[in-house]
Amino acid sequence: MIIFKEAGSITRHLQEQQSGGVPVGFVPTMGALHAGHLSLVTTVKNDGGLSVCSIFVNPTQFNNATDFARYPITVAADIQLLENAGCDVLFLPDVAQIYPDGTILSSPYHLGYLETVLEGKYRPGHFQGVCQVVHRLLDIIQPNRLYLGSKDYQQCMVIRKLVELKQLAVEVIACPTLRETDGLAMSSRNMRLDASARQKATAIYATLMYIRQQVQPGPLDLLLQTAGHQLAAQGFEVDYVAIADARSLQLYTHWDGNTPLVALIAATIGGIRLIDNMVL
Ligand code: PAF
Repeated sequence: MIIFKEAGSITRHLQEQQSGGVPVGFVPTMGALHAGHLSLVTTVKNDGGLSVCSIFVNPTQFNNATDFARYPITVAADIQLLENAGCDVLFLPDVAQIYPDGTILSSPYHLGYLETVLEGKYRPGHFQGVCQVVHRLLDIIQPNRLYLGSKDYQQCMVIRKLVELKQLAVEVIACPTLRETDGLAMSSRNMRLDASARQKATAIYATLMYIRQQVQPGPLDLLLQTAGHQLAAQGFEVDYVAIADARSLQLYTHWDGNTPLVALIAATIGGIRLIDNMVL
């Protein structure tokens, strides 16, 4: 695996590869890698692309300074995991490489409705920061395909919107969420859960399964309320339990029985905020 720290050098290297006809598949990450990230690298390789991964803990997408300060950093272990997964190229920039002109956004991304609900509502500015860094990374890497994990369902939609807004020539591929054996969605934040919170955290998956089993055409209020109570009973502080149109993320309190749905949860246990979702 070749490691680049400079934006100009990785751009030149990848342009050379692409001019030889090799498609580039890109997996952006913030490190603290787990099997979910590595499965994205494997998917790139299975799709026949040169696999490029980035590790950059992007300061502009954290709406909470404590969350940023505590974000797990495990670069040496990450490099080893990527080597083992057969990753071809790693981009490991510092803040100056990503934001040479500073971190202030010159003009906002017009994300519309997507930025007003769920993560957009509970983490103001978060998706602007995500778009800012992904836009910059896409500019540097210029991949043919961008691989994202579906655990961040709304993020996948936001990044598709970014690609559309900026007319970027990249195909966005959302890959399935990987789960621990008890159902907990793999996440870099899981390593910050203490033993008790880790045990309780599986209730998020159980609640999503409950929603999937119970959802019926008609009003959804009672189902959403019961699901929220289940999580609260386990000690979660619940930001939201929501059911939405899987294509637009319009929130539903009544289901016509036809619209494809996704259930989404954000809740905090032991001081760690977790998100997950399930297409119903
Ligand atoms: O999902 C993440 O890890 C981050 O939001 C991303 C896409 C790498 C941008 O910093």
